[in-house]
Amino acid sequence: SFEVELARSGKVLTVGPEQGLLETIQDHCDIMTSCEDGFCGTCETRVLAGDPEHHDTILNEKERAAGKTMMVCVGRSKSPRLVLDL
Ligand code: FES
Repeated sequence: SFEVELARSGKVLTVGPEQGLLETIQDHCDIMTSCEDGFCGTCETRVLAGDPEHHDTILNEKERAAGKTMMVCVGRSKSPRLVLDL
């Protein structure tokens, strides 16, 4: 599991191993989604801190490595805490 901090509200939520990032944050912030499967780009979110684990099919290798943005509908975190611009 990992923690996700929603920077705009300061809320910190825990994403369990069986839980999705999107389902965890959905009720706590205004996040727009469409495909919810990592290919449309609607949910692209800036990563302010932490190391995202990408599972989308949008970002290229360079963007993945930079870790400044992620698709939160499918992404997770490699670091214990992810801070999102939400
Ligand atoms: Fe389509 Fe996340 S909702 S990429």
